[in-house]
Amino acid sequence: MGERSGKFERTRTCPARPGDDTGGQVLGCSEEEEVLHGSTVTDEDREPLVNYVAGGCDDGGMTDTGLITSLRATRFFFDRAVPPEDIEAIVDVARWTGSARNRQPWRFVSVSDHGVRAGLSRLGQYAQVLAHAPTVLLLLSGPDRGRDTEFDLGRVCQSVLLAAHARSLGSCPVSLYPEDNARAAARLVGLAAPWRADHAIALGHPAPVPPGRPAIPAGRKPVRELLTHFQP
Ligand SMILES: Cc1cc2nc3c(=O)[nH]c(=O)nc-3n(C[C@H](O)[C@H](O)[C@H](O)COP(=O)(O)O)c2cc1C
Repeated sequence: MGERSGKFERTRTCPARPGDDTGGQVLGCSEEEEVLHGSTVTDEDREPLVNYVAGGCDDGGMTDTGLITSLRATRFFFDRAVPPEDIEAIVDVARWTGSARNRQPWRFVSVSDHGVRAGLSRLGQYAQVLAHAPTVLLLLSGPDRGRDTEFDLGRVCQSVLLAAHARSLGSCPVSLYPEDNARAAARLVGLAAPWRADHAIALGHPAPVPPGRPAIPAGRKPVRELLTHFQP
């Protein structure tokens, strides 16, 4: 895809999986919430979810990079539950993420209860999507927190997002802060200190983005801006 708003370029698009638009009430952030967040997408920007296992991408088939580059944050969901088996399958993939000294410092708690999700949605400045998504996967760390834990959690979070994407589920990572809020999030699911959830992941069946939303540049910086081949 071509250049978009100066420094940003869009990633390629892939065809939507047949049937993605079916069924159910759409849940999503209000316009105000999206403006607040300051980073949203329009229908045009949004990459349709693709089942790469079925090989639906316009780059000629299944590629690892296609799975990565077509991953977008999803903030609108159909009101349709994500079965526990799907959550388990996603975690089953993500648990193979590497971590410093193979500590695997992460734990996951899946939440579908509306009251708890609403509580979580108040624990971050841009966490409203947690109230709208049918499932929230809390990403917890606890007693074995160490210097590399945040890095490890970031890696496993991306694995969760990609595993969900491969199953045609939409996702959005969300920050819960300040630290008191991260601890409060853990308490909401019955875990006392030292447990904390600095991040949560909204999960669900992606719905079309309502028209007329404020457009904020999507896409990514070009490689030439990001990469230097150093030569002494
Ligand atoms: C560490 C981290 C924290 C994020 N926190 C939030 C958040 O609190 N609320 C939200 O709506 N999106 C959040 N996002 C999603 C980002 O806004 C999104 O990944 C980014 O805008 C790129 O979106 P795109 O892939 O759809 O282009 C977060 C992403 C990351 C990686």
